[in-house]
Amino acid sequence: MRIDVVSIFPDYLAPLGLSLVGKARESGLLDLRVHDLRDWTTDRHRTVDDTPFGGGAGMVMRPDVWGRALDDVLDDGAHLLIPTPSGEPLTQRTAEALATEQHLVIACGRYEGIDARVAEHYRARPGVRVSEFSIGDYVLNGGEVAALVVVEAVGRLLPGVVGNPHSLVEESHGAAGLLEYPVYTKPPAWADLEIPDVLLSGHHARIERWRRDQALARTAARRPDMIAALDLAGLDKHDLAT
Ligand code: ADE
Repeated sequence: MRIDVVSIFPDYLAPLGLSLVGKARESGLLDLRVHDLRDWTTDRHRTVDDTPFGGGAGMVMRPDVWGRALDDVLDDGAHLLIPTPSGEPLTQRTAEALATEQHLVIACGRYEGIDARVAEHYRARPGVRVSEFSIGDYVLNGGEVAALVVVEAVGRLLPGVVGNPHSLVEESHGAAGLLEYPVYTKPPAWADLEIPDVLLSGHHARIERWRRDQALARTAARRPDMIAALDLAGLDKHDLAT
C-alpha cells in the first residue's frame, strides 16, 4: 500500500518511523511518504491560508495551494482522506475497508480547515474518492494526529504487519461487536490481587465462556450503544443471561 500525507508540519508525522508502522515501511509492505504543503506555495512567505469569506475568527487554508499539492500527489484510484471534526466517524470497519486499498492520500488541514471547494473539486474527479473523517467528538489543532491514527489503524491490518494475525481476531471492535475481555499475565498474584481462577483451570470451554461474559458485561457498562447494535441472532442463551 502507498500512503501520502501532506501537512504544514511534516515533523509531526515522525512517529510513523517507529514501531510496527516503521517496520512495515522498512520491509516495503507500506510505502509512506510525508510532504510539506509549503513546497507547493508560490510566494515569498510560503502562504497557505487566508481570512474566511463571510467573516469570522481564524484562517482558512487556500484551495489553490492544496490543489497544486493534490494534483501532484493523487493518481487514478487514490482515496483522498481529509481529517476534520465535521467528518464521518472513523471506525474499525472504515479501517478494514481502507486496508484493502492501493493508495491513500491524507490532507492535513490546520486553522479553521481547508477551503470546502477542495473536497468538492476532487469528489468530482473520476477515479478519485474523497472521505472527510473524524477521529472523535473533540477538536484538535489540525489533522496530523488524526493522520497518525488512521495510518496506525490501517497499517496494522495490512497482511504481514502484525506478526501473529490471531491477535487481530479477538480484539475490541472486532467481528463480535464487543469490547475485549480483560487480560492478565504473570505474576499470578500482584498488589494483593489475584487472577480469576478460571484462567488457571486449563478448561478451554470455561475460559471461552468467562471471556465472553466479561466482554458482554464490560460492553454493557461502557458502551451500551454497542450492545444495542448487536445482532441478536448471533447471541446464545448464555449471552442473553449475562
Ligand atoms: N481535526 C481537528 N479535530 C479533528 C478530529 N476530531 N478528527 C479529525 N480531524 C480533526
